[in-house]
Amino acid sequence: MSELKQKIDEAVKAVRARTAIAPLAGIIFGTGMGAMADTFEGKLKIPYAEIPHFPLSTVESHAGNLVFGYLEGIPVVAMQGRFHRYEGYTLHQVTFPARVMKALGCRYLIITNAVGSMNPLIPAGSLVLISDHINLMGDNPLIGLNDDALGPRFPDMSKPYSCEMIELAEKAALENKIRIHRGVAVAVTGPCFETAAEYRFFHRIGADIVTMSTVPEVIVAVQAGLKVLGLSTVTDACLPDALLPLTSDEVIKISNSLEESRQKIIRGIVKGLQ
Ligand code: HPA
Repeated sequence: MSELKQKIDEAVKAVRARTAIAPLAGIIFGTGMGAMADTFEGKLKIPYAEIPHFPLSTVESHAGNLVFGYLEGIPVVAMQGRFHRYEGYTLHQVTFPARVMKALGCRYLIITNAVGSMNPLIPAGSLVLISDHINLMGDNPLIGLNDDALGPRFPDMSKPYSCEMIELAEKAALENKIRIHRGVAVAVTGPCFETAAEYRFFHRIGADIVTMSTVPEVIVAVQAGLKVLGLSTVTDACLPDALLPLTSDEVIKISNSLEESRQKIIRGIVKGLQ
């Protein structure tokens, strides 16, 4: 057995000793978006520090718990606090929790994040369903020895985002009168926000939105056979010819203002899973 598989099994064993909930869906909440996990029915929180091989959160706004419970009657597990490449974690560490979610029995993964938008038709304060991605992190979580028990060496990436889940999200948005877009995401490491020339480049190569997260977890989830949905909140307009200075406080403020809409959409998706 590979060392990675052994670590996953140890994490799963520790979690199973604490809860009998067998999650159908995993949710990875983006920066400051984890409050929804506190609304799960019958919830149980396991601090990352108590799960073998889990990295520890360093960013203050991330709580650092794996939260089990029921959402719309469906068993779920959520990461309250995620790991980023820019914090110094390797992409193997960043994606370890997604592997544990798969090993716990999840068949679906929902990921939320904050993004900048280079597309003038997708302004700050918008919600976007990720339709495809471009990995410009200069790294890949699948580099290294491959364990075929976890997924193929050369996984197909022709359709990483589940059309079925996108449709559920769009239906939930429509029912709740929430405007939602589709867009292509480009992933970078950060931690600096981009220059005007970089945003111009991203838009020209076909990206609508830019993120410092998500894509590594999506790559691993797709390799592992999970169905994936990415729900992005546009926190800043990245228009190269009208670029304004940006602070992470503004990013958090806009992100918080869309909390209710995000929760409605996630509930709508989960309700439709089977
Ligand atoms: N760039 C990269 N990541 C981001 C941005 C951005 O402008 N906004 C929120 N996450």
